[in-house]
Amino acid sequence: MAKAIAQREGSADEQMLRDELAVQRRQASARERQLERYAADLRDTFKAERARAEELQASYVATVRALVDAVEARDAYTGAHAGRVAAYGLELARRVEPDLACDPQTEFGFLLHDVGKIAVPDEVLHKADDLGPEEQALMRSHPQVGYEIVRAVGFLAAAAQVVRHHHERWDGEGYPDGLSGQDIPLAARIFSVADALDAITTDRPYRPGQPIARARAEIRALAGTQFDPAVVARLDEISDERLEQIRGGS
Ligand SMILES: [Fe+2]
Repeated sequence: MAKAIAQREGSADEQMLRDELAVQRRQASARERQLERYAADLRDTFKAERARAEELQASYVATVRALVDAVEARDAYTGAHAGRVAAYGLELARRVEPDLACDPQTEFGFLLHDVGKIAVPDEVLHKADDLGPEEQALMRSHPQVGYEIVRAVGFLAAAAQVVRHHHERWDGEGYPDGLSGQDIPLAARIFSVADALDAITTDRPYRPGQPIARARAEIRALAGTQFDPAVVARLDEISDERLEQIRGGS
């Protein structure tokens, strides 16, 4: 009798244990399902965020492109110049300061450097002969004018620094602020080397485009006066083949 009672109690305990386990399993799988739902929600949110960020970035690029086109439409030389100089500049920036090359603002600044030429009248912009003092002053106002245009656009705040300082010189003899050495923003110091490279290797009304080797020599000769010597040294790390590719438009 006592044995039968003990057996019943034993199986009642087992049943309780089984019930308890079943409840815990159900709770665990409910928690698991909830976690999976959270994970799926997070994935969806992340995907949507990324799509929005990409869309925003694409609209930034389109805006910059439209501004660059507005400048290029007036000046045949500037034409493919902005794209080429940006490509030279980024190639150089990768050697000088990789983080700078990854920042889209750097490319935007390179592309927009001459946006202030919008304010220079056609007769001055296209004048073949030497410019008079007033015309020269007008021409030299383009970094400042460009800066005023670009800095008003929130996503171009850092790019505005390149626009303003792209005609400064390492020795302080440039414009508009006469900054010298490392006071000139690094992206602007890189840009001015890229700009010279493009100017020397491009056909001009008074001479054909010069070979890359000639451009390297001319730039090297101006290291420490016009250009940051550390940036010029990095130019040697880019192969002639790569520079020729950019020159040819790829
Ligand atoms: Fe310029």
